[in-house]
Parts: sequence; C-alpha cells; structure tokens
Amino acid sequence: MTAPVAIVTGGAGGMGTAIATALLADGFRVALLDRRGAKEAADQFTGEVLGVEADVTDEASVQAAVEQVEATWGRVDALVNNAGIEPPHTVADLDLATWQATLQVNLTGPVLLMKHCVPLWRRQGGGRVVSIGSRVWLGGGWTPAYSASKAGLVGLTRVACRELGPLGVTVNVVAPSFVHTAFNAQKADPEFLDDYTGRFAAASPLGRLVEPADVANTVAFLVSDRARNITGEVIHVAAGTQLAPAIR
Ligand SMILES: NC(=O)c1ccc[n+]([C@@H]2O[C@H](COP(=O)([O-])OP(=O)(O)OC[C@H]3O[C@@H](n4cnc5c(N)ncnc54)[C@H](O)[C@@H]3O)[C@@H](O)[C@H]2O)c1
Repeated sequence: MTAPVAIVTGGAGGMGTAIATALLADGFRVALLDRRGAKEAADQFTGEVLGVEADVTDEASVQAAVEQVEATWGRVDALVNNAGIEPPHTVADLDLATWQATLQVNLTGPVLLMKHCVPLWRRQGGGRVVSIGSRVWLGGGWTPAYSASKAGLVGLTRVACRELGPLGVTVNVVAPSFVHTAFNAQKADPEFLDDYTGRFAAASPLGRLVEPADVANTVAFLVSDRARNITGEVIHVAAGTQLAPAIR
C-alpha cells in the first residue's frame, strides 16, 4: 500500500514538529510547510519528510507548495492547518495591519490550502483536513483578532465539511489550550510564563497543562481511518479548561 501524505503548515514550529512526529510514526510521509526554517526542520527528522518554504497568506506560494508536494509524492491525504500567529493588541489600540495579518495567517491560509488540495482529493476520492484552533474560540481570550480568527476557523470548518463531504473529505478542528511552545515563549518573559503556567494548570480539573504530543495524537486520530465518520467537529484538547474564563 502507498504511504499516505500529509502537509503540516507551521511545520517548523513547536506543535508542527510534534504533529509531524506523530504522523510519521503512523506511516505518513510529511511535508513541513513553513515561511521560514522548513528545510532545517525537515533535516531534523529521519524518514520521508520534505521541507517546503511557503507563506500561507500568499495564494501563489500556497499553490506552488501543493504542486511541489504533488510532484514529489503524487498525492495529499491529510492537510493540517497549524500555522498561526497572535500579535498582541486590544480593541482600543487596534492597528488594522495587525488585525489583517492575524486573520490572513490563521484563517485565509487554511482556506487557501484547502482550495489547492481539492483537485487532488477529487482525483483520490477523499482526504482529511484538521485545523488547529484554540480554546479561545469558545471561552474567549485576550487578543481580538486571534480569538476571532479561531472562531472563524470553526465556521469555515462547518461549511467546508458540507461542501467537501461528497468528495470523501472530513474537516475538523482541534482546539488546544495553552501549550508550552515558542508561540508563547516569544510573547512573554520567562518569569511571567512560569507564573502563568501555574495559574493555567490550576484552572484545569486535571491540574495540568496540555503538551504538544496531546494535540499531535488527536490530529493523528482525526486523519486516520478510525475517524472516518467524524466531520464538522471541534475537539478540545484543553485538559478541561475549554469553558474556563480567560486566564491571565
Ligand atoms: N502554543 C499554544 O499555547 C497554542 C494554544 C492553542 C492553539 N495554538 C495554535 O497552535 C498552532 C501552532 O502553534 P505553535 O504553538 O506551534 O506556535 P509556533 O510559533 O511554535 O509555530 C507556528 C509556526 O507557524 C509558522 N507561520 C507563521 N506564519 C506563517 C505563514 N504566513 N506561512 C507559513 N508559516 C507560518 C511560523 O513560522 C511557526 O513555525 C497555531 O495555530 C496556534 O494558534 C497554540
């Protein structure tokens, strides 16, 4: 049997690396798509991993990336929309460029990737989409554009699962809570983060934080045949904090 192929956007980041590791263990060939460091990230793996430098906000770049994966392996079985940014801002100090940049990476990127994979899914008779959302879509966060983009991903998923279902494509969201990756480390000083992680764990009924592997294992399930009848769904990987108020 031919090994399935996955594209993981934001593949050079913390969660992307964990997702690639889980998918490789399940027999996937993995294309790590990132705007920077994709090739270096791919070099860290053994197995069939391709580093693809691309910007998910740029349609020509997305199209070229999907074509590169198709030219290399001939198919795309799973698309994991994982690239994401959260530049800090508030409603009161909003600068439009920040709002647009956040929506472009977190929401426009996923729909562009889906669009350019559709011809392959039509030919193959199916596929899988998993987009990495966030618990903030439900419980609220602190960054307007980020929360709006993650809520938007749920809306996009619920439309896309109807349109692409007849092609045999499932479309779902995995919504994590706070996970220790560069995503957060870049935004706050280590002392604050230490304190914050303690408060976050305390808000969990399980008393602990989510780890990248928890998210990756859920993605691996959703792209597997075991999840063939799950679509249009949001799975929170949040250690029970999905309904907790915003934690600061
Ligand atoms: N870390 C958390 O606490 C947390 C919690 C909930 C959800 N998430 C979501 O998980 C996903 C992955 O986050 P992470 O923690 O691995 O962050 P990360 O910063 O480690 O990785 C994100 C990756 O996305 C890439 N990227 C950004 N803009 C891009 C673009 N235009 N084109 C291509 N690649 C681009 C970055 O280069 C980076 O490698 C994001 O969607 C994030 O919103 C993270």
